[in-house]
Amino acid sequence: MERTLIILKPDAVQRRLSGAILERFERKGLRIAAMKLMSVGKALAERHYAVHRGKPFYESLIRFITSGPVVVLVLEGNHAVAVTRRMLGRTFGHEAEPGTIRGDFGISNQFNLVHGSDSPETAREEIALYFGPGEVLDYAMVDDRWLASE
Ligand code: RTP
Ligand code: MG
Repeated sequence: MERTLIILKPDAVQRRLSGAILERFERKGLRIAAMKLMSVGKALAERHYAVHRGKPFYESLIRFITSGPVVVLVLEGNHAVAVTRRMLGRTFGHEAEPGTIRGDFGISNQFNLVHGSDSPETAREEIALYFGPGEVLDYAMVDDRWLASE
């Protein structure tokens, strides 16, 4: 079963959309393996977004992600990385398809509500940035019979 790191960004928390977004992931059949509300400090933000260092939007992206509390999640399920990326939609809210989270809840470029790991390898690295091994839980769900088989 694949895992991914999801972040409900400061705009999602400030706009009281955390519950609405989380509900979509639950209804899809993903399992919450870890979840916490936290502030992202500058050092952690710079490690997470190291791949974007030097790009024109880098400094404002760091300011954004450190600007207020975020909800960080590990979600698990069949093809969790690709499934959640499709659920997020394209990066910018005004380009994201209706029916996606970014397409339904936002219209901004940068304030796009949610982050999702873009590959299983990135997911492993990002999960280790935000959670210790003891914080990511392995447990069965009563509906695994219907949702967890390949
Ligand atoms: P994410 O990493 O947050 O899941 O988003 P993504 O893969 O769809 O987009 P990515 O290219 O990785 O960009 C990371 C975040 O930087 C902000 N951004 N702003 N103003 C701009 O041109 C611009 N481009 C990117 C967005 O917040 C984006 O999610
Ligand atoms: Mg990205």
